[in-house]
Amino acid sequence: MTTLFLTVGLPGAGKTTRARQLAKEHSALRLTPDEWMIPLFGEPEANGKRDVLEGRLLWLALETLRLGTNVILDFGCWSRDERSAIRWLVESEGETCRLVYVPVDFETQRARIAHRQSTTPEQTFPMSEADLVRWRTLFEEPDGAELEGHEIGGAPPGWQGWLAWAADRWPTLA
Ligand SMILES: Nc1ncnc2c1ncn2[C@@H]1O[C@H](COP(=O)(O)OP(=O)(O)O)[C@@H](O)[C@H]1O
Ligand SMILES: [Mg+2]
Repeated sequence: MTTLFLTVGLPGAGKTTRARQLAKEHSALRLTPDEWMIPLFGEPEANGKRDVLEGRLLWLALETLRLGTNVILDFGCWSRDERSAIRWLVESEGETCRLVYVPVDFETQRARIAHRQSTTPEQTFPMSEADLVRWRTLFEEPDGAELEGHEIGGAPPGWQGWLAWAADRWPTLA
């Protein structure tokens, strides 16, 4: 059985650093959207292009699992629904999904972002203090049950299932 590791956490938490370690430990393919968005478009969002890029990376991740190779999807996934959808997609292939939550307190986050900006500016983009405060309010922290992989639960009301939800969230998935 192959495993998809999904990183969860705020910018600057240390997700990509952790993902690099996991890639070595598990001979896994690491897919980090920033490593595509920044070289391709010079910015992290580019008018919605991140969503279509992520859809293709998710598609590639599922193909990779089918080939028997572990994958690290370094999406950071702030939303519980996004995490549930990805878990559902992986488990419906008969494979394992593991959330890798990298928590970070505000001061550590600020220090890590400053460190990255000064050491590897080409791998990141400017983040203001106001961004950090706002992002913290948007982030849905995973609870213990979710991290242990307990039942996924149904798709949000109005959706036929997680596949339909995911195909809407990431239009290039299918
Ligand atoms: N455990 C750690 N201890 C100290 N510094 C770290 C740690 N993890 C990451 N960093 C540093 O913090 C910065 C942000 O890490 P990164 O992995 O890029 O975060 P993320 O992918 O969550 O945005 C980088 O400069 C990295 O070298
Ligand atoms: Mg990162």
